[in-house]
Amino acid sequence: MLEDCLEQRGSFIGEFSYIVPDPYELLAEQDLVYRLVILSRTGESESLEGLSSLIPQLESAGQERVARMYEYVQIDEARHTQMGNKWLRFLVGDDDDAVAEATRECVMRYNHEVRKGRLHRALRSPDYLTGPGAPVQRSLRELAGFTLTEIDLMVRSRGTAAQE
Ligand SMILES: [Fe+2]
Repeated sequence: MLEDCLEQRGSFIGEFSYIVPDPYELLAEQDLVYRLVILSRTGESESLEGLSSLIPQLESAGQERVARMYEYVQIDEARHTQMGNKWLRFLVGDDDDAVAEATRECVMRYNHEVRKGRLHRALRSPDYLTGPGAPVQRSLRELAGFTLTEIDLMVRSRGTAAQE
């Protein structure tokens, strides 16, 4: 489906440049807790809200097939995030405070790499649940393994998405 859409627009998979350094290579150098926090808990999870905004825009632009594809991607990312949260809790203890502290420590390490220029990415809030971000998709966050207490904290700073 993606290949068809790209071809219709005169593009192809691989046309766009590769990011150097590859952020996934840098992730592979790190410990498992870091990878779960950076890749899943504070990374893939952001697509839950991002794609919730993108999908209706694609529909409005007449891109129904692409919108349907991104619905699959969104559910896939919810599952990836759920696995990340599950194993993070297994490793640090099933406790919101322990998860928040591990998240804070890993995001600070991540931000250090960004500031050093090893990652060409935006800085993330070490206080992930109370930091800035798109209005929260409560049901998707719940599906993705965030506790109701965590979701309530996020909603206080981000608000709740209008369409859920
Ligand atoms: Fe993913």
